[in-house]
Amino acid sequence: MSTSIIEVEGLEHQYGDFKAVNGISFTVGKGEIFSFLGPNGAGKSTAINILITLLKLQKGEACIAGYDVRTEAEKVRESIGIVFQEVTLDRDMTVWEILEFHGRLYGMTRPDRKERIAEILELVKLGGQKDMLVKKLSGGMKRRLEIGRGLMTRPIVLFLDEPTIGLDPQTRMRMWDYIRTVNDEGTTIFLTTHYMDEADNLSDRINIIDHGKIIASGKPWELKNELGQDLVYLETSDNPRARSIITDLVSISGVSDKGKGILITTNDDGTKILPLIIEEIRNSGISVITVNLKKPSMDDVFVHFTGRELRDDKPGKSPATFRRR
Ligand SMILES: Nc1ncnc2c1ncn2[C@@H]1O[C@H](COP(=O)(O)OP(=O)(O)OP(=O)(O)O)[C@@H](O)[C@H]1O
Ligand SMILES: [Mg+2]
Repeated sequence: MSTSIIEVEGLEHQYGDFKAVNGISFTVGKGEIFSFLGPNGAGKSTAINILITLLKLQKGEACIAGYDVRTEAEKVRESIGIVFQEVTLDRDMTVWEILEFHGRLYGMTRPDRKERIAEILELVKLGGQKDMLVKKLSGGMKRRLEIGRGLMTRPIVLFLDEPTIGLDPQTRMRMWDYIRTVNDEGTTIFLTTHYMDEADNLSDRINIIDHGKIIASGKPWELKNELGQDLVYLETSDNPRARSIITDLVSISGVSDKGKGILITTNDDGTKILPLIIEEIRNSGISVITVNLKKPSMDDVFVHFTGRELRDDKPGKSPATFRRR
């Protein structure tokens, strides 16, 4: 196991009476891409904001690069780079000015700034836009610039709060490549996301966070394996009854409602189990409308652990609802 760069123990945070972060503990190893996957209002930004010393640590312990978040905030800030959930770039500055200003703010020497800006522009592929005003950049370019700015001071850890929010699918995939490149150069990455595919593709380790708690944690394939081997999705003329029939069959490790149908997890080969399931249901006079067989996806993992889909997050059930951007 690699050395820990982030160590968090029993972290809690309250806004008034409301507990947004409710006792989370984890460690992040050097060089890892570590993610928080959770719906709106899960507490991801709150947790990140405590770690980057933007919010005061109320309860628990947190250490970054060996520095205590509570007592060594200055040292913590020197060790990290940050990309916030909302764009925080001055629209009337150029790409080069953004990086130059940031370098000065952090006391980098002139030669060091010059060298680092050249490296950053190459890394995030903004060399051609270096004299362009921020307001003329596309959403993806702005995000790349923010990542570049976060990397100016050669941080040990880069915090990315929803790095691809609002970007189109192609741009998002390209962003993943930049993030991987940054990681390959040795930077530990802590990211939050509510995109299943992002967590799945990018993370070495995913933590599913909901209502301020980590409810599952592991490598993407470990989380998927925990669901059993194969998944069968069925829509029938009588789902509740079909559900109770299926529950009693052998090799069935779980049955839950999903959309208009039911999702069945088996710890056996789905191609063999499926005909048996259909036969049992038909014998009970229930007709089968739709059948689908597949290996577990991150979506299924999420439903399994939270008992709901991201977009099913209902008002009142959780403090914040799913917002489309
Ligand atoms: N300054 C604040 N004052 C009061 N409540 C807050 C404040 N900031 C966040 N909250 C609440 O705390 C909970 C967690 O919010 P947080 O922003 O950490 O969630 P998140 O997981 O980052 O969500 P999102 O995916 O929408 O960014 C939410 O219910 C939110 O409404
Ligand atoms: Mg957030």
